[in-house]
Amino acid sequence: MSTPRVGIIMGSDSDLPVMQAAADFLDTQDIAYELTIVSAHRTPERMIDYANSAHERGLQVIIAGAGGAAHLPGMVASLTPLPVIGVPVLSRNSIDGWDSILSILQMPSGIPVATVALDGAKNAGILAARILGSSDKAIQDKMIAYKTELREKVEEKIRKIESQ
Ligand code: RP5
Repeated sequence: MSTPRVGIIMGSDSDLPVMQAAADFLDTQDIAYELTIVSAHRTPERMIDYANSAHERGLQVIIAGAGGAAHLPGMVASLTPLPVIGVPVLSRNSIDGWDSILSILQMPSGIPVATVALDGAKNAGILAARILGSSDKAIQDKMIAYKTELREKVEEKIRKIESQ
């Protein structure tokens, strides 16, 4: 088992069906990650310990997902020097998803959270791979191959639609 380079955390196990997409993408890229629950409101001390120690444990990027009053990504970003990618989750305590989005997006100057779309955990995984790829050629080469695959899929659809 290689040392995890990405930490995937979420406020509750109810976020897992959404957050799993980040883990699944990292699996396809052979990027080691750890995945766990860290709740800003229910386990604040655990959140502080996790965020303070993440870079010392070898993590290079944190993906944090939460819904409703989604304070986890921002609070983790306030504690860690690592890049934090926030995933707003349309959770059962969310009014309509905008509460999750704005809680993660509207950070004060100095403490950024790279916020992806509502339930956009796959893009969070892709962004984490791109961040790691900027200093790791093997990861970047896989990202280039992934982008080629995306282009080829669309080209195939173009051929199909134009031949109808
Ligand atoms: C947030 O509240 C969690 O991140 C989750 O999105 C939401 C609901 O949590 P549960 O009540 O399902 O544990 O803190």
